[in-house]
Amino acid sequence: MALSRREFVQLAVAMGASLAWGGSARASTSDWHERRDLYPEGVASGDPDPTSVILWTRRPFESGGRRVLTVEIAEDDAFRRVVAKASAPVSAESDWTTRVLVGHLEPSRVYWYRFTDEDGNGSRVGRTITAPLANDPRPINFAFVSCQDVNEGKLNAYRRMIFEDERAASADQLGFVLHLGDFIYEVVEYPDEVKTRYDRTIYDVGRIPDGGKTGNFHYPLTLEGYRVVYKGYLADPDLQDARARWPFVAIWDNHEFSWQGRQSIVQAGGPPRPGQTVKVAANQAWFEYIPARVKAPSGTLDTFGTVDVKNVPIEKWDDNYLGIEPNNLKAINSLIGYRTFRYGRHLDLILTDQHSFCGDDPTDAEGVDKLVDPSFNGMFSETATIALDAGRTFNGGTPPAELSFGDVTIPNPRKNSAPRTILGADQKKWFLDQLRRSTATWKIWGNSQGALDNRVDPQNLPDGLTKKKWPADTFAVMSTYDWRSAYHERGEIYDLVRDAKITGFAILSGDLHSFWAGYAAAMLPPGKFEPVGLSFVGASLTSPGTMEALEHGLRKDHPLRALFLADGPGRPAGPLTWTNNMLVKHGVRSCLEYAKSFDLKRAHAVSNPDLAPHLEFVDMGGHGYATVRLTSDEMRTEFVCIPRPITRSDRPDGGPLRYRVVHTASLWKPGERPKLRQQVVEGDPGLSI
Ligand SMILES: [Fe+2]
Repeated sequence: MALSRREFVQLAVAMGASLAWGGSARASTSDWHERRDLYPEGVASGDPDPTSVILWTRRPFESGGRRVLTVEIAEDDAFRRVVAKASAPVSAESDWTTRVLVGHLEPSRVYWYRFTDEDGNGSRVGRTITAPLANDPRPINFAFVSCQDVNEGKLNAYRRMIFEDERAASADQLGFVLHLGDFIYEVVEYPDEVKTRYDRTIYDVGRIPDGGKTGNFHYPLTLEGYRVVYKGYLADPDLQDARARWPFVAIWDNHEFSWQGRQSIVQAGGPPRPGQTVKVAANQAWFEYIPARVKAPSGTLDTFGTVDVKNVPIEKWDDNYLGIEPNNLKAINSLIGYRTFRYGRHLDLILTDQHSFCGDDPTDAEGVDKLVDPSFNGMFSETATIALDAGRTFNGGTPPAELSFGDVTIPNPRKNSAPRTILGADQKKWFLDQLRRSTATWKIWGNSQGALDNRVDPQNLPDGLTKKKWPADTFAVMSTYDWRSAYHERGEIYDLVRDAKITGFAILSGDLHSFWAGYAAAMLPPGKFEPVGLSFVGASLTSPGTMEALEHGLRKDHPLRALFLADGPGRPAGPLTWTNNMLVKHGVRSCLEYAKSFDLKRAHAVSNPDLAPHLEFVDMGGHGYATVRLTSDEMRTEFVCIPRPITRSDRPDGGPLRYRVVHTASLWKPGERPKLRQQVVEGDPGLSI
C-alpha cells in the first residue's frame, strides 16, 4: 500500500513540498543540542496520511536571506533510529517558518522529529503519528477542539488532554487533534489599555502594527499584523506542548480572518468594508503557521507567494451570493482550506470552510429589524427566519409577499432571492460529492459552525411577563448567522444523506463556546423531524461563552431573567444556576418552575416535548475539549468539561474537572434513526440534560 518513491515525489511536487524520504533506520549523526529559545513557537505536525506527514517549525534569524535547517524523523525519541533526514529552508519571506513533507513512513506509527540549524542549535523534540491504512479495522481515537483565546484565558484543557493521553493505553491514545477554528482571535486587547473583561484577566498577546480598532479590540489589516497574533498565541506553553504531542488537522473559523467577516469583507465590530488584501494576509499567515495539505499560490510549501489584490467594494454578486469582483475572487481563492482525510476503515473526515464563500445572513435584509421586539432578549421569529432563509424557494416556490410578527408586517425582502448559502455553490457541490463517495464506516463533517437549532418557546410564556405577547404561531430562534438556522442548505445536505441511504453521518463543530449533543435534522416540529445523523458541538478551550456574557450583562430585574439565570443554589457551583441550558432543551415553563422551586423533577414535568427533540445535551457555559472513538459499530463522544479557565492551573493534570459526559451511538442501518445513549461519568453537568 505504501507509495513508491516516484509516487511520493509526484505528490510532493504537486504540493510544492520540500520532502524527506524515509528509509532504513540509523543513528542520528547531527550535533543537535536543544535551544528552545531559538525556536520560540516550538514545533508542530499536520495532516498525517498513512505514509506521510507535514512537519513544522519557526527558526528566526536576525538578518540575511534563506537559511537551511535539517529535520530528522526517528522511530525513537533518542534518535537512535532515524528514518529520514531532509533540508528545511527558512527565510524572512515566510516569517522564518518551514514546512516539510516526510514520506515513506509506516502507517499508524508514532514518530519523533526535531530541527537543527547549521550550528547544531536544535528545536525541542516533537511527536507525530501517521494515519492507519484505509483498510485498518482498529478503532480510531481523536480529539476535537476550538476557540483558544489566550488573550482572555489559559489552556488548561490542553494540559488535561496531554495528561490523560500520556496515561492512556496505546490503543486508546489520540491519533490526531481536529482543530475546528478560532486558533487565533484576530481581535486583541492590550493589558495596558484594558485589565479585565467579565472576570477575565487580559493577557498580553502582542501589539498589532498598522491595524484597526473597535472598542478595546485591535485587529490586523496587514500580513505583519496577523503574524504578530500567531506568534503571540504560539508563545503559550500548553499550546506548544499540544502541537508537539499530536499532529493537528485544522480548518479556520471566522477569527482567523475577521470577526463577522465573510468572503473578503472585513467587519470586526464595525461597518463592513472591502478587505481583499486583508483576506490574503490572513490566508498567508494561516498557511505559514498551521502545517496543512493546502496549496499556496506559490505552488510550494516553502513560501505562500504573492497575490496582487486591491481593496475595492464588491458591487456584483452571482445567484449564489458569490462576490464576482475579481479581487474578491482572487483573495478568497488564494488558499482553499476545505479538504478530506481518510483515516483507517472507520473514518472519512470532510472539512469545510464556512466563511470564504458564505452569503449574507438573510435576517440582515432590509426592514427585518422591524420584526424584532427587544424586550424578548434576542429572540426572533422562527417562521420569519425559515422564510427569509429559503427566499424564492420557500414552500415549493411560493414565498410569502409579506412577513409579519404580532401586529408588525413588512414586505418580504427575500421574496425574489436565492436561498441562503454558507458553503457557496462550488464547495457545496464538492462536499455533497465527498459525502456520496465516502466508503468509511463513519462520515464525519468537520464544520466550524454549530448545526443544532438553538430555539425557544416564548409562545408558552404566561400573560403579563412581557408587555406584548409572543405570537402563538411561532417558536423563536436565538441566532441566525450559522447552520442552526440555515434550513435550506442543511436540508440539501441532510436530504442527500437520507436519499443516498448514508449511515454513520456525524457533524463535529466548534464556534459556540458550549457543549451540545444531538441529531442532525433539517427541520423541527411542527415541521417534519427526520434525524439523519449525529451532531456535536465542542466547547471552547478558553473563550468566554454565552453564560459568562449573561452573568455579567443580564439585568437583575429583567422580566425574562429566569429563562437564562436563576438566582439561587448554583448548578454549577456558585450563586447562579444556568437555566438557559434548560430553556433550549425543555422550554420556558421548565425554567420558570425551576427558578421558583429549584426542583428538577417539577421543572422537567412541564418540559415542552416539541421544542427540542434534536437535543440530548446542552451546556452553554462549558469549556474543555471532546474526544471521539470510532469502531465498526459505534461512535463514542466524550465531553471533558473544565471550570472557567481564567488562570493557568499549576497542576500537572490542568486542574479539576466539572464533568465528563459520554454520548454513544450504535451504527444505524439505512433508513433507521440514530440514537444516543448518555452517561455522566463524573461530576455534575447541571441543567444540561
Ligand atoms: Fe470562538
